[in-house]
Formats: sequence, C-alpha cells, structure tokens
Amino acid sequence: MTITHQDELDGLKEIGRIVANTMHAMARAMEPGMTTRELDEIGRALLERDGAASAPESSYDFPGATCISVNEEIAHGIPGDRVIAAGDLVNIDVSASKNGYFADTGATFRVDPVAPPLDRLCRDGKRAMEIGIAQVGSDKPLAGIGKAIGRFASGRGYTLIRNLASQGVGRSLHEYPGEIATWPNRDKRRITRGLVLTVEPFLSTGGLMATAGKDGWTLYSEPRAPVVQYEHTVVATDRGPMTVTMPG
Ligand code: CO
Repeated sequence: MTITHQDELDGLKEIGRIVANTMHAMARAMEPGMTTRELDEIGRALLERDGAASAPESSYDFPGATCISVNEEIAHGIPGDRVIAAGDLVNIDVSASKNGYFADTGATFRVDPVAPPLDRLCRDGKRAMEIGIAQVGSDKPLAGIGKAIGRFASGRGYTLIRNLASQGVGRSLHEYPGEIATWPNRDKRRITRGLVLTVEPFLSTGGLMATAGKDGWTLYSEPRAPVVQYEHTVVATDRGPMTVTMPG
C-alpha cells in the first residue's frame, strides 16, 4: 500500500507493533524440549489477545498461526511435533492483520549454545537487513536495496537466496509492487513516497535457491547450507525508511 494519511500510518504501526511484540515474546518463551507447535500456540494466543489475525492462515490457509523454520528449514516451516534443541537456529516469522492493515516481521533466533560461525551469520544477517532498509526512501531506486545487500554479502563471503524476494505489504500480505529482490538485480523501478514494503534478505554460507519440500510449504536451501532471515516492514518517506515492526 501507499501511505497518504496519518490514520493509515497509525493502523499500520499498530499491527506492526503487535507482530513485533508477538515474535519477541515467542523468542523469549522458546526453550529446548519445546515443540514448534507449542511455540506457535504462544504466538497465536498473543495475536488473538491483541485482536489480530494470522496473515498466512487467513490469506493462504497456512497450517499454523506463524511460520517456524528450524535449521535446514529456511522459511514457511509448519509448526508441529519438531522438538527445539540446544544449538538450533529457529526462524520465527510473524505476519498478521488488524483493521485491514497487514505487517510482517521475522528473525532467526539462536538456542544456546550455538556454534560461533552461526552466531556470526546471525549478526551479519541482521546487518544485511539493516543495510537494505537504509536504501529505502522516496524516489530511491528499488534495485538499490539488493545492490547494497549484495555488496555486503559478497564482501564477507556469504551467499544470498535468490528466489525469495521481499514484497509490497499493508492492505494484504503480498501486494504492489510485487517482488523486490534483495540481491543484485536490474529492476528499473523507483520507490514511491509512502510505499510500504518488507525488507527480508536470506543470508547464507552457501545457499543459493529455496526449494519446496514434500509438505508443499517448507522451504529448504539448495545447496544445503545454514540460512538466516531478518525482516521488517518499512514505509518509504522523504527522510528515508520508517520501520513499523518495532516492539513497544
Ligand atoms: Co515474513
């Protein structure tokens, strides 16, 4: 969506705060021995308490309130019987709607103790997202996001998953302007004032593509390699990016 009025920004910020609070509360509650279904139930209860509806469930019939992806699963993992263990990387992606506004946030969390190279991958994954977000603003080139992230990733010897793009969001989970690459690309479009989009690079130590598993949802890295994802929903303004998925 494109924000043109304060009430739209207020509505977007409200759902942005809800998904951020939900994701962080889930991360705090996470502990070894818990199943991903139990973790999802915590998320569902928090969304319901705040009057929000899970977006993957309402928009795509996803079998869960949130997407929880462990280790070799890189996105769209279905909450279920899998038991979270020490040393795991757990990606929690929470998208939801309230009063017709949609926001989307995600992050990869470490279940300690995590091997130092994975720790570094997490830190750099978050930085890759921040570097991409810094390229958001009125009339900036859309390709600037992927260019900046690509420079950072290749400079440190990382790869980027090149078929999982960011997207327009706000009045639905996926909308105009469609897919936004977080890797170097030749997109000629510019970011218009007030545009709402996600920035969610998938940083890896070798992964290049995501492929769907047998359940039709869960995505895996090809070739297999650790992958992390960090995601915010952002509004393009004349003064640069405004991140709406902030806890508070
Ligand atoms: Co997301």
